[in-house]
Amino acid sequence: MSAAKDFSLTELNKPEDWGNLIDMAKKHVPIIEAPAKVKAKEPFTVKVKVGGIDGVEHPNILGHWIGWIELYAGDRQICRIDFAPEVSNGYAARLDVTLNSSATLIARSFCNLHGLWEGQEKEVTVE
Ligand SMILES: [Fe+2]
Repeated sequence: MSAAKDFSLTELNKPEDWGNLIDMAKKHVPIIEAPAKVKAKEPFTVKVKVGGIDGVEHPNILGHWIGWIELYAGDRQICRIDFAPEVSNGYAARLDVTLNSSATLIARSFCNLHGLWEGQEKEVTVE
């Protein structure tokens, strides 16, 4: 991502410096909450949320909203959740997941005005 631009409509937006996020990133990157260690084939809860980093929320209005969130375990898609503007109360997804082996969770979100965003990866170790 170019330093001169806040976002790209044609390429994946993924912050490089997570300790120094610009406001555009704070309101677009999906944040994954998941345990670091789980047991094989036992369900655990994963939460994915867009917006709210340092209180910077993404708009939720007709014409500007987060259209969807996708969650992956490595290259394998776990789910995709679509949001309608105005009627969703923020952009949060919660689901139960089971893994057979350790995986890297990755979340992506899509804003109709600011494109595709990827958040920080979350490693889940299956014991
Ligand atoms: Fe946006």
